[in-house]
Formats: sequence, C-alpha cells, structure tokens
Amino acid sequence: MVSRYTDNLSTTDFLGFSAGQLTPMQAIEARHSVRSYTDEPLDEAAVETLREAIASVNEETNLNIQLVLNELRAFAGFKARLVNFTGVRNYLALVGPECKELDGILGYYGEKLVLLTQSLGLNSCWVGGTYKVVNRAYNVDLGQKLAAVVALGYGATQGVPHKSKAPQEVAPGYDDSPDWFQRGVDAALLAPTALNQQKFSFALSGLEDGLPVVRAATRRGPFTQMDLGIAQCHFEIGAGSADYRWAD
Ligand SMILES: Cc1cc2nc3c(=O)[nH]c(=O)nc-3n(C[C@H](O)[C@H](O)[C@H](O)COP(=O)(O)O)c2cc1C
Repeated sequence: MVSRYTDNLSTTDFLGFSAGQLTPMQAIEARHSVRSYTDEPLDEAAVETLREAIASVNEETNLNIQLVLNELRAFAGFKARLVNFTGVRNYLALVGPECKELDGILGYYGEKLVLLTQSLGLNSCWVGGTYKVVNRAYNVDLGQKLAAVVALGYGATQGVPHKSKAPQEVAPGYDDSPDWFQRGVDAALLAPTALNQQKFSFALSGLEDGLPVVRAATRRGPFTQMDLGIAQCHFEIGAGSADYRWAD
C-alpha cells in the first residue's frame, strides 16, 4: 500500500509496535480520550521506546515533536480545568515547520505515537485548545509552530467509546465496497477528532497504475486537517495489507 506521507514504512512494523503489548488495531480499539491521570511516574522503558519513536518520526518527517515530562503548567490554567483535565504532567508537544500541510502531517504521525503509547500501557488525549503554551518547556524554532499537544500518562480510567457516525455517512459507497475499504472506514470512525466532529469522508475513486485509489477529504473547520491525518492513520491500519493508493 502506498501511504500518503511516506512510501518506505509499513504501518505495522513502524514505531516499534513489537515493543508494546497491543497490535495497532487493538490499540485503536482500546484508545479513548482520558483527561484525569494518576501521579504514577511513567515506566522508564516505555519512555525510552517513546523517545526512540519520536526521534524516528522527526528524522523521517522534519517535524520537531517533543516529549515533555513533569511539566505541570500547561494543564494548570482555566481552559484545562474547564474540561476537567486533572493530574496531567506529561505531554507531547506537536511542533513542526509552518506550512499548509503541517496539521495533516502532525495528525498522521501524532496518532501513530498515540497508538504506540496506548500499546505501552499509557492513556492519552489530543488537545488543540484547552491547554496553555509554556515558554521554555519545549523548543519552537524560528519558522516552526506548536500546533497541538497530546496529554499522556496512566489514566484514572480508560475513558469511554465516543458516539460515532454511521460508516455510510462518511463513506457513501460503503455497503458496496471491498472488505479492506470497509475495515479502513471502521477504523477511521474510531479515531479521535476535535469535538468529536468526524468531518472526514472516504471514497473509492477509480484505479491508478492498476491500484484502487482512495480519496480522503474533510469539510472545513478548526482542526479538521489534523483530524483527517489522524483518520488516515487509522484507515491505513484498518485496511491492513490491502493494495491501494491515496488520491493526491
Ligand atoms: C485535533 C484534536 C484536538 C482536540 N482538542 C481537544 C481539546 O482542546 N480539549 C479536549 O478536552 N479534548 C480535545 N480533543 C479530544 C476530543 O474531544 C476527543 O478525541 C473526541 O471527543 C473523541 O473522543 P475519543 O478521543 O475518546 O475517541 C481533541 C481531539 C483532536 C483529535
């Protein structure tokens, strides 16, 4: 399968998933946003695996994602309290070069890291708005932007499944589509989206070089490009080893 963002890494062997307890699909099913964390320190081996994965993403993509540990201020403000974040002391700072594709790319790779953390026994929550920027907690170089953060830690709970659209709502041709496409859409519907908006859609769109083409799109709105990147990461995992390519 030809990935949207990289053509030399398969989803399943990427990011050291063998180091975790879960397959990527199991991680998709187990992941729910968690906003309350215990004060248990992160397991050192898990931190090491995560650091290696982040380094490999940054090297591959030119992103500047950083793991921020024991930093209490980002989630100490009124915005975080408003949505009941408690005990957040660790997070990913999703930083990258300012460009129009940045949100989509951070969504795609950020979600791979989120699924890895889930498979390492941690919980998480994507956060685009309800956190505070903390100068000096991470580096945002000239020409770069902090687009969002992801809270990480051992959850007080495992979270709950979100309400979801029907697959036919996000993929009108769903019922007549091949299994792999349906599995991709099903996995995308388990993806986190800002305000659970699920504004993405997937469609089969002919053949290119003999391969089925999947067109992923989104309606406009805040964080919809990031949501789309996340949903595409899930689609690829759901579709597994099927041969297809993303429409440009
Ligand atoms: C790009 C993005 C931004 C988000 N921003 C916030 C946020 O600012 N505050 C918050 O509490 N949750 C935020 N969320 C979490 C969503 O509310 C959550 O993913 C959604 O309700 C679906 O629930 P689930 O993650 O449990 O499947 C965000 C999620 C995404 C993907």
